[in-house]
Amino acid sequence: MSSVVRPRRWLAGPGHDCEPPPSTRRPCRLVLLGAPGVGKGTQAGLLSSRLGACQLSTGDVLRGAKRLAACDRSPAMELAIAAMSRGELVPDEVVLEIVRERVDCLRCHGGFLLDGFPRTIAQAEALDDMLAAEHLGLDAVVSYDLPIERIVARLSGRRVCPGCQAVYHVETQPPQTEGRCDRCGGPLVQRDDDRPDAVRVRMQTYEAATAPLLDYYVARALLVSVPADGTPEEILDRTLETLDIRAASRA
Ligand code: AP5
Repeated sequence: MSSVVRPRRWLAGPGHDCEPPPSTRRPCRLVLLGAPGVGKGTQAGLLSSRLGACQLSTGDVLRGAKRLAACDRSPAMELAIAAMSRGELVPDEVVLEIVRERVDCLRCHGGFLLDGFPRTIAQAEALDDMLAAEHLGLDAVVSYDLPIERIVARLSGRRVCPGCQAVYHVETQPPQTEGRCDRCGGPLVQRDDDRPDAVRVRMQTYEAATAPLLDYYVARALLVSVPADGTPEEILDRTLETLDIRAASRA
């Protein structure tokens, strides 16, 4: 197994170099969909290791903006940060500007795993336009499914490393030393949008704005559904098997 591809250019923005991803048999270009906390980020990390494609998370970029000094944040960033902590979506124009600035990452020879984008029909249409302009297509859109009470349990136990974005769970994926990141040693924290009031807003927002994307991608014959129960490795195997079956049926 290769290691996770660190998308420095995606996280830090244009003008930053990336480690070149290891060569892959063929680039894999996926969108990962699913309710907040279903495990998209966890699967994106595992898929990145296995497929050599970059994990491109809009949430990670927006959380990076939060770490900037207040004087370095634009008014749009301030609005985005406030929306995130309430559990609401960041306005489409802000998210699309972030993705357009990083369009190089869609061209990466290793492929990409879009995690948290698109999240509205307007974002999906904009992604279609960006990919068409680059003469690229999606291999599939993977939708992870899990009952809501199990998702809420995943969110309430999540701890993250603000330094390197590693994700843990106090019960199912604890760090080796309590409260410390295995990868960089930094302190682990609870995300402020994992508070119960923000989680409620995120779930309602998902149903209203993001769930309609399932029909959007069914209509384009791109959607595959993967049950998100079991261990992360079991879900990874299920995802790869589902993608293999899809690829074989289209060959
Ligand atoms: P974002 O960062 O994208 O958050 P999200 O979609 O709400 O998803 P999460 O990161 O909360 O969960 P996940 O599905 O990745 O689960 P994870 O793997 O961490 O977005 C945050 C905010 O940014 C949004 O609310 C919005 O404000 C804004 N934003 C971002 N993109 C935007 C866009 N395109 N448009 C507008 N606004 C945007 O797993 C969760 C927990 O479960 C972890 O603790 C993990 O360890 C554990 N876990 C994972 N898998 C398993 C398993 N199989 N078994 C047991 N535990 C597991």
